[in-house]
Order: sequence, then structure tokens, then C-alpha cells
Amino acid sequence: MRIIEFEEIYQMGQKAFSIVMDEIEHNPQLLLCAATGSSPLPLYRNLAEEAKKRTALFEQLRIIPLDEWVGLPSSKGSCNAFLQKHILRPLMVAQQRYFPFNLETENLEEECLRIQAMVKEQGPIDLCILGLGKNGHLGFNEPANELQPHCHIADLTMESQQHSMIMDASTKPTRGITLGIQDILSSRRILLMVSGSGKEEAKKQLLSTEINPQCPASLLWKHDNVDCLVVRQN
Ligand code: GLP
Repeated sequence: MRIIEFEEIYQMGQKAFSIVMDEIEHNPQLLLCAATGSSPLPLYRNLAEEAKKRTALFEQLRIIPLDEWVGLPSSKGSCNAFLQKHILRPLMVAQQRYFPFNLETENLEEECLRIQAMVKEQGPIDLCILGLGKNGHLGFNEPANELQPHCHIADLTMESQQHSMIMDASTKPTRGITLGIQDILSSRRILLMVSGSGKEEAKKQLLSTEINPQCPASLLWKHDNVDCLVVRQN
């Protein structure tokens, strides 16, 4: 794992941007798995700026969301709404190149299987963009004695239920759908971005290099192509 620390979040965004651009330039059909949250936002803003100048570069880019809240309308407050606003519209990613979770369905278990088949068909993920949860989670792979390899429905911990994204939601989601830890680890390259307060313990556990499912992000030590970008917290 290559760990780089930054003083400011915009600096992390610039480094992340150079990594993503390098990947897209080498592989325009890149399959990008995208996290939501505040850590990747500067990266997405930089990509949006670039897309104004070099639209053609993003014409074949494919996007898979990392996770989604269960129980939020897909058009407001959801990860889907976030990705539409920050990536899909600015980069003009056509519907056939975007593979969202469908939470309108009655049967969430079937939806997990559908996503699993889609990941297999489209995959492997070329570049997986991740954020670090305050409890060490990746996507909604919450701390546990045993992590689930593939797409599943997760019961969210209290920390996850207090994420800033859902602060204004009238009904707070208690469950999420997420790609599993093996799906993440099967990516060719992983970019983890860490910013925000309240992550000291999770960061400490991750940087200790000890692999422990109670800190799901520590499983990234099993992968040999991970960039971990961290904003120092004052
Ligand atoms: C949420 C999201 C994750 C995200 C994580 C960190 O739980 N579901 O995908 O990576 O939080 O978010 P932030 O960067 O805002 O701290």
C-alpha cells in the first residue's frame, strides 16, 4: 500500500485526479467503481472540470457505484443522486455505461445476485475509489468477525447511520447495499481517500498493517496495488 499524506483536502484531490487520469488515458473503457461521501468530492470536481475541456476522453468510461442506502428515494439524498450530480452528468456518462443498484425492487436478495452477475459481466473493476468510514468500513462492509465477499445487504452501525450524507433525510436508513470485500479486492487498482474528523482510530488500525475484519479497510493490505491518500487531521 502506497500511503501519501496531505495537509489539505484539495491536495489529495489533485493527486487522486492524476491517478485517475493516468488510468483513463491508458484505458478509455475503464470500469470505475465510485464511492460517495466528502473524501472523493475534490477528485470528482477536478474530473468535472477536465470533462469540460476533454469530453471525448470520458466517452467510454463505465461506472459502478460502490454502495447505496436502502430506503432513500433514488432521486434525493441517495448515492445514486450524488453520483448523478458529481460524475454522471458532468462527465456525460450515458445510461448504458452506468450500472446502479435498483432498490425499487421488492426482493433485495435478488438484487444482490443481479449486481453480482453484472460485476462478473462488466468486470473486473479497473479502478476502485473508496472512502474510509469512521468505523473502518469500506462501502457498507461493516466491522464483523467475518466479512462478506460479494454484494449484500448490510445492517448499518450507528456510526454509518450518522453519516453527513443522510443528516437531512426524514427517514434515516438502517440498511445499505454494498459490493463485498472480495469484489473490492478483485479490482485491478484501488484508491482509498481518507479525510474528515472522527477517523483517528480507524486510521490507526489501518496503518498498523494488521489485517483485522473489525477494521474492514485493513483487508486492503492483501492487495498489491493500493494508493492510500490521507489528509492529516489537525
Ligand atoms: C459512507 C459511504 C461510503 C464512504 C464513507 C466515507 O459510509 N457509504 O461509500 O466511502 O461513508 O465517507 P466520507 O468520505 O464522507 O467520510
